[in-house]
Amino acid sequence: MSIYDEMKYFSSKVDEYLVTYFIKEPQFLYDASYYLIKHGGKRQRPFILLNSGMMFGAKLDELLPAAAAVEILHNFTLVHDDIMDNDEERRGVPTVHVKFGVPMAILAGDLLFAKSFEAALNLLKGSYVQSQVIKVIAALVNASIEVCEGQALDLKIAESKEFPSKEEYYHLIELKTSSLFKACTVIGAVLGGADESSIEKLREFGRLYGLCFQLVDDVLAITGDPSVTGKPVGNDIREGKKTLVIKYVLESVSEIERSKLLSVLGNRRASNTEIKDVLSIIVSSSAPERVRLEAKLLSEKAISILQTFPKSRARDMLINLTMEASSRSR
Ligand code: IPE
Ligand code: IPE
Ligand code: MG
Ligand code: MG
Repeated sequence: MSIYDEMKYFSSKVDEYLVTYFIKEPQFLYDASYYLIKHGGKRQRPFILLNSGMMFGAKLDELLPAAAAVEILHNFTLVHDDIMDNDEERRGVPTVHVKFGVPMAILAGDLLFAKSFEAALNLLKGSYVQSQVIKVIAALVNASIEVCEGQALDLKIAESKEFPSKEEYYHLIELKTSSLFKACTVIGAVLGGADESSIEKLREFGRLYGLCFQLVDDVLAITGDPSVTGKPVGNDIREGKKTLVIKYVLESVSEIERSKLLSVLGNRRASNTEIKDVLSIIVSSSAPERVRLEAKLLSEKAISILQTFPKSRARDMLINLTMEASSRSR
């Protein structure tokens, strides 16, 4: 059985629980909030949280409010991210602001943000002690703050003519993407009753996993198959996202290709043909492979952290997921 097949069981448990947060009036608001969740997604964050907790003996059913909290928070960031990035499709369907309009999408996102904390508070109905739940909330608060900081840098760099250094780029993606993965591992470990040093190790695993995950997301934004990823290609170029893929392409192509790319990067009025030309320059360069290789090194480091823990089914689920992280196509 592949790791993706194994994940289906976790996703179905999470989905069954998630829906309970969105059966309320006014229905049009709850429909807009639930819309993206309803249309799928990989559910990697809850999967990572659940297995981080189960590594230390936590029970899946008892972890569900926390798993829901991170998935809801993730969906909140996506709804607002798609407005910021002018993206029109996600999970194979029109984005929330395209479907419901920008004002309702902002509100749907706001509701998701609050619902995430509502879900976390429901941990108190289970067997956890208050100090554990406070740590969970603190992890969600911290991730929420860092995502905003990262998204701000993302927008700023997209507007700028300058390319970020590699260190600056890693800093950005650590904030916008790793922060939530770190929250997932930490929350799981806290609820599993792990000791401080195990929590720290899992936090570092989440950080590395998130970096790897975002590097591959950047590759898929160029080379991905939209029927598999559910997201169109090319909009990162229009929006001027200066990802490592673009940085590496510029280092490796001819002067003519380089100036073509720079003339289209960040040009919202670029034609589909121009975008297509630029995509084909990138796809035929060594940059996507170079970024995937960098992602693979990060995933190997992440796996080596997991291997310091005693063997268990939950630990091996995380190892298997991480083994696929740099080669994923969705
Ligand atoms: C997309 O996350 C946003 C990033 C941080 C790259 P996912 O690729 O996990 O999106 P879904 O949840 O599977 O749709
Ligand atoms: C995702 O960033 C990070 C957050 C939503 C916080 P991206 O803008 O790179 O992700 P996609 O490609 O739209 O999913
Ligand atoms: Mg985006
Ligand atoms: Mg974005």
